[in-house]
Amino acid sequence: MALGIYLSGLAEVRPKRHRCYEKNKRGKEDINMNRAWWKEAVIYQIYPRSFMDSNGDGIGDLKGITSRLDYLKYLGIDVVWMSPVYKSPNDDNGYDISDYQEIMEEFGTMEDFDELLSAAHERGIRIVMDLVVNHTSDEHRWFVESRKSKENKYRDYYIWREGKGENTPPNNWGSCFGGPAWEYDQETGMYYLHLFSKKQPDLNWDNEKVRREVFDMMTWWCEKGIDGFRMDVISMISKTKEMPDGEINGLYGSFDPYCVHGPNVHRYLQEMNREVLSKYDIMTVGETAGVTTELAKQYAGEDTGELNMVFQFEHVSDPGKYGKWTDERMPLTELKKIMSHWQTELYGKAWNSLFWDNHDQPRAVSRFGDDRPQYRELSAKMLATCLHMMQGTPYIYQGEELGMTNYPFSSPDEFRDIESIHAYEEWCESGLVSHEEFWPCIVSRSRDNARTPMQWDDTNEAGFTTGKPWIAVNLNYKEINAKTETEDPESVFHYYRKLIALRKEHPVIVYGNYELLLADSEELFVYTRTLEEKKLLVVCNFTDSEVPFSIPEAFVGADCLIANRVERGGEAESRYDEAETVLGPYEAFVLMTV
Ligand code: GLC
Ligand code: CA
Repeated sequence: MALGIYLSGLAEVRPKRHRCYEKNKRGKEDINMNRAWWKEAVIYQIYPRSFMDSNGDGIGDLKGITSRLDYLKYLGIDVVWMSPVYKSPNDDNGYDISDYQEIMEEFGTMEDFDELLSAAHERGIRIVMDLVVNHTSDEHRWFVESRKSKENKYRDYYIWREGKGENTPPNNWGSCFGGPAWEYDQETGMYYLHLFSKKQPDLNWDNEKVRREVFDMMTWWCEKGIDGFRMDVISMISKTKEMPDGEINGLYGSFDPYCVHGPNVHRYLQEMNREVLSKYDIMTVGETAGVTTELAKQYAGEDTGELNMVFQFEHVSDPGKYGKWTDERMPLTELKKIMSHWQTELYGKAWNSLFWDNHDQPRAVSRFGDDRPQYRELSAKMLATCLHMMQGTPYIYQGEELGMTNYPFSSPDEFRDIESIHAYEEWCESGLVSHEEFWPCIVSRSRDNARTPMQWDDTNEAGFTTGKPWIAVNLNYKEINAKTETEDPESVFHYYRKLIALRKEHPVIVYGNYELLLADSEELFVYTRTLEEKKLLVVCNFTDSEVPFSIPEAFVGADCLIANRVERGGEAESRYDEAETVLGPYEAFVLMTV
């Protein structure tokens, strides 16, 4: 690509060093809708360990990411969110940080990071960092100090409590990764709180010094020129002072009401916004498990001075048989209800983030679509249509744009993820439930499904590494890989490219008002978007059967923006001239009135 193109792109997209919401000039319909670059952007999530290995050690790294930026540029995304790349002993693959201002050795050096950042900016791609500040690693120097003595000046950086008695933790809370949420520390004979693994002690946000340290660290990254933060479990940073036993769920009590959306969470985020975020033109997205639309309007309200948007998890929270573990699907009517509720409730008041999957979730096409060979591509495109036509900022998880699928795990020793390994021990090895019963549930929901290496081509190890990958490559890499997909104009990859391009072309996709049609259908997800005189109709068949459908009158004969059945796009557009039609399996199309 010629240098001139980089440079002209650069002038246009480099963030300005101040926050500025350009007022919308488009009139009444969306009068409350302040425009912002992050509302119009499409974000691509990279899980660095599994994206691209540059030196043959089997682990993805920063140089690997830099080498694939042109691929991302070609896809058309605007922002890359990288899961953590900081120094870490990797108990939870980088979500346990031992130094916020160093790069994980396996991923490279700070020079590699700087190179990645400027190479991304040259291509007009912004870089969003994962900010993991609910907890650190137990190997972080703050914790190493903190555990030394009760008088240590870092003692109060973490949450220490006396046990209830001999061998009895302060309360019955369980951690997210199994086992109790309290760990006894011999040095001082007290317990520390860890909502995740015992190598992830929770920081004490009530300590002003902790907040200062975190804000200074964030400022340091902003000054480096990064473009935003995805904030890990940010809804958990504030805990109640009283810590009573929680309601029993499985073996332990729940910490939920005491540690999630705690008493000072909004105050701390407003402080963070004042001290750091408001000084830079960056974007922020909070991971806020358990969030409701009411709370989201506070966390990410247009003018609450906290975050730009949050991840909500209702649509990926199945009522599991065993905690989160299940092999069942959410009924379509329920999924539509949840997604529509978020679309309508936040409209004009806060901003949605849109996702089907991420590094903590199974693969979208396996979970919500159909990964059998005859339907994989069709259903992957259908899901993409359904999500990318909604209001909010879409997130694409690496490999989703290829229609990558879940991994056919056959034994627990194939798991690498701390959560899956502990869950298997806690539910199965303990005898709570049989292997036969539990296995399909954990296979269907394991986070490792998302963490198998990115499939680049059909060579050894899918072109991810010249060595042995840290986690097995999916067996289907010969059929499903970036090389094949970029060469095939009808691929899932090119369909995503088109969806991304459409979002840039039609403001109605970004800002239009949402309305659900056919709420009771268990087969079809149909909705409209409206911005002034422009109207979109989005039609998605979530089943492998043919389903009759009547195109609403206003859309009969309308333009087709995109369709996943070739015969419906291009030449055969006249098919939309008739109201009565029959949708094929997993068919999706979008019509637009002019
Ligand atoms: C978030 C991350 C997840 C991690 C956890 C603890 O949920 O997305 O991967 O294990 O926080 O940091
Ligand atoms: Ca490597």
